[in-house]
Amino acid sequence: MSENQISINKLSKVYNNGFNALKSINLNIKKGEIFAMLGPNGAGKTTLISIICGIVKPSSGIVTVDGFDIINDYRETRSRIGLVPQELTLEQFETVFNNVSYSRGLYGKKPDPKHIEKILRQLSLWDKKDQRLRQLSGGMKRRVLIAKALSHEPSILFLDEPTAGVDVELRKDMWKKYVAVIKVKDSKLVTPIVEAMQAVLWHYVVSDYRLKKNKTKW
Ligand SMILES: Nc1ncnc2c1ncn2[C@@H]1O[C@H](COP(=O)(O)OP(=O)(O)OP(=O)(O)O)[C@@H](O)[C@H]1O
Ligand SMILES: [Mg+2]
Repeated sequence: MSENQISINKLSKVYNNGFNALKSINLNIKKGEIFAMLGPNGAGKTTLISIICGIVKPSSGIVTVDGFDIINDYRETRSRIGLVPQELTLEQFETVFNNVSYSRGLYGKKPDPKHIEKILRQLSLWDKKDQRLRQLSGGMKRRVLIAKALSHEPSILFLDEPTAGVDVELRKDMWKKYVAVIKVKDSKLVTPIVEAMQAVLWHYVVSDYRLKKNKTKW
């Protein structure tokens, strides 16, 4: 396994309408590193995460995860990543437990109710396991998204603004829980959340659609 778990080389993205969202990004993230991205709305954070996850196609450049190419070895790379998306994407009429179990199945993993129970307990969702998604509050739905992202036991976790739209207290509480889950899982965390900066040695600023390394220590 290469030392860099995620390696991005001269990555650019031009959307179909001609908009150039990323301009020749170079970035390496090492195993065990907690990495945060900051940037204004529209800076390209979601675009970058989506490319690494294989949801958006890059226009040029190479991205590897554990040495596997995100396009040629898509199944290898995607199975290593848990993604908590910026937008809520949940099956509203299914239960919490089924939503999370189903996600695990999508990665070809055998059902493992014990693992699902562990995640739901860590995220304080166990008492809600039989409720349908539409019966949950917004913050709880965000937690379900985290549980789904962890369901297939990924080694990399992307959090794309999962606390958007939740109140300050809940946000702090959720953040503590993410860190707890991540410690348990020994997962790497990649997140645009400002709170994450406390745990981050380096941060990068997306500016002018390029990543700029900022050497400030937090
Ligand atoms: N499908 C698309 N077609 C054309 N342009 C797009 C598309 N998706 C995103 N963009 C543009 O690319 C730029 C980067 O968007 P992106 O969603 O990556 O930003 P972001 O940094 O995640 O912003 P936010 O903080 O608001 O979530 C924006 O200008 C956006 O309008
Ligand atoms: Mg975004």
